[in-house]
Amino acid sequence: MNLTRLVYYSQRNPSESLDIEALIETCQRNNGRMNVSGLLHYNGDHFLQVLEGGRVEVSALYHRIARDTRHSNIILMGCYDVRERMFPRWSMGLHQGMDAQTREIYMRYFATDDVNPETVNVESLLDVLQDLSVELT
Ligand SMILES: Cc1cc2nc3c(=O)[nH]c(=O)nc-3n(C[C@H](O)[C@H](O)[C@H](O)COP(=O)(O)O)c2cc1C
Repeated sequence: MNLTRLVYYSQRNPSESLDIEALIETCQRNNGRMNVSGLLHYNGDHFLQVLEGGRVEVSALYHRIARDTRHSNIILMGCYDVRERMFPRWSMGLHQGMDAQTREIYMRYFATDDVNPETVNVESLLDVLQDLSVELT
């Protein structure tokens, strides 16, 4: 079975209510069953997410997530086979908030201290997620 990594970012839909704790519980329950792992960063405005697992599972999950009305402007940054997972630890880890540490990490990889589609590439996005994940361990 091919191991696939998928990375996207999206914007929260402010007209839909969002219970991030309930959302992450759903993620962990479903992803655990499918052996999908990854990380979700939510800064109050944008979501950055990486999904890793079997190609079929990751693809099906992404299509479900993309239909979710709690976010919009979903930009798929990459979907490709990998030899190993970068985020095996969490069925879905959650990094939430936009504190000084997060801003510093953004500044490290982005041209501005905000997620700006114009200035982001998939490698930078993964670096951001990996650096943010250090705070979770
Ligand atoms: C930003 C975002 C990320 C999500 N990530 C996942 C995920 O990793 N796994 C998952 O099962 N659902 C995820 N969802 C929720 C799905 O869109 C969908 O609501 C959920 O899978 C339905 O699961 P249920 O049928 O068990 O209620 C995400 C939703 C949003 C808005």
